[in-house]
Amino acid sequence: MALYRKYRPGSFNELVGQEQVTVPLSAALDNGRINHAYLFSGPRGCGKTSSARIMARSLNCVNGPTSKPCGKCNSCVSLAANGPGNLDVTELDAASHNGVDDMRELRDRAMFAPAESRYRIFIIDEAHMITNQGSNALLKIVEEPPAHLIFIFATTEPEKVIGTIRSRTHHYPFRLLTPQAMRGLLERTVAAEDAIIEESVYPLVIRAGGGSPRDTLSILDQLLAGTGPDGLTYQYARMLLGVTDDTLIDATIAALATNDRASLFTTVDDVIEAGLSPRKFSEDLLDRLRDLMLLQAVPDAVNLGLVDAPTDRGEILLKQAQEFDSQRIPRIAGILNDGLSSLKGATSPRLLLEILCAKMLIEPGGQVAPAPVLSAPSARPTPAAPASTPSSKYERPSQRRAREAQEARNVAEKPEVVEAPVEAKPRESEESPETRSTPPQPASTSVHVQPIDAIKNAWDKIRSTVSKTNAVAGILLTGAQPLGIADETLVLGHNTGALASRLNAPEHNATIQSAVLETTGLELEVRCEVGTNPKAFGFETDSPKPVWNPEQDAGEAGS
Ligand SMILES: Nc1ncnc2c1ncn2[C@@H]1O[C@H](COP(=O)(O)OP(=O)(O)O)[C@@H](O)[C@H]1O
Ligand SMILES: [Mg+2]
Ligand SMILES: [Zn+2]
Repeated sequence: MALYRKYRPGSFNELVGQEQVTVPLSAALDNGRINHAYLFSGPRGCGKTSSARIMARSLNCVNGPTSKPCGKCNSCVSLAANGPGNLDVTELDAASHNGVDDMRELRDRAMFAPAESRYRIFIIDEAHMITNQGSNALLKIVEEPPAHLIFIFATTEPEKVIGTIRSRTHHYPFRLLTPQAMRGLLERTVAAEDAIIEESVYPLVIRAGGGSPRDTLSILDQLLAGTGPDGLTYQYARMLLGVTDDTLIDATIAALATNDRASLFTTVDDVIEAGLSPRKFSEDLLDRLRDLMLLQAVPDAVNLGLVDAPTDRGEILLKQAQEFDSQRIPRIAGILNDGLSSLKGATSPRLLLEILCAKMLIEPGGQVAPAPVLSAPSARPTPAAPASTPSSKYERPSQRRAREAQEARNVAEKPEVVEAPVEAKPRESEESPETRSTPPQPASTSVHVQPIDAIKNAWDKIRSTVSKTNAVAGILLTGAQPLGIADETLVLGHNTGALASRLNAPEHNATIQSAVLETTGLELEVRCEVGTNPKAFGFETDSPKPVWNPEQDAGEAGS
């Protein structure tokens, strides 16, 4: 079982870093101040669904309402973190059940008194997905609920829940965790799993998880899955997460501090040689600059937990921070930050990175280098570049006019193609057209298999094909599943944002594409999205009936 399911908090005590919710909610429960509708809002994977279930358990315990459910009564046993559930507590995933009929059905069921507990409780996950009509069908009963009824709405987007419902709820906002809180959760989990991991892995995992406990645990899970008897090493975690080696960042910082051009450009070369994406490198450099900036202001930042670094790195970072005057770091960080967006999908990211580096250096006269042209429109490759543009590299308008005039004069000559457009298909498949995935056709009675079903059937095969050539991509795929095909693109879903974006990295993406082609004969682009509910991405599914199912979370069926 996935770590984040195995360690689903069963009481408010076990919930990490959400005191702003758990303290007042516990007090209200213990004082018997019960409202008939609650709204839990906040980012993905922060404990909303877990809290809704804890709340249900707290409300229906024989000793309840209480913030400390006994854990022994029938209700407590059935509503335990991985228990079977019971008839009086219903979970509904509004991502797939959001229409007026669903809400009418819910409303009718809600009128019945509870079968065996104090309250009948409806947990409505992804509540912002309820349609307007659905919300209106629900409104009356939320406004004037029978005494036995309690609604707990959970959502990532509270502002999209209609006002008339929202105003009936007590609203509790959940937050992303601080690095310290997350560290606590990770250490607790590592201990419970008896896993061996290098200290220096923690900051990597914490950064990659972006403050979401679920994402962070799921990253830890996948790292541990590929770990041998020696435990989880920094090197392995770094490779799997695509994190830039600290020594490259150290070298860049040193070059910037001493304004050493030669060594700065050599380092860029090392970055490219190491197969890192310039964008990823820039992001990691920006993270480092942020840490250094904090260390300049708060030298004790590592101990205070403001900067998350292994203790032995603390001093190195502090030294680096002291090598810059106080205005320089924000300036460099600003340049880098502005340049980051243009690195995305740029045709020549290396060049852009080098230009950025030049900007970050100081001119011999003590001035910051004048800004070379950077925010090039070429940053985003346009799908269909006009034929008159032989290269998508940036040109000043005057240059372009000059070039076009020149071209007009040279009509006879073949235009020189500088670079193939990035998006060009690697090769046109010679297979018969029907094996290609054009828009999904309605299921016919013939034996013809839908492309997406072909992929689902061959999924294990595809994964093992990927693993053979690219072990990292293979491991990343463990948590992914095919959702559907749209616009000749196979859409995969992964619950962990950081890992989904790793799967989109060109080197991994290409491996998956060719494995799909090799295994199924389908030539498709591949894209990985965050989330594994096909419906959320507009793909049809035979959706299961809403039931309490602790093995599954809303929107993650089958992952
Ligand atoms: N605050 C937290 N403390 C400890 N674990 C958490 C916390 N938030 C989330 N988790 C972990 O993430 C998993 C999913 O959390 P969940 O409650 O479903 O998040 P949400 O509903 O906000 O998306 C839990 O099973 C648990 O392992
Ligand atoms: Mg949830
Ligand atoms: Zn109980």
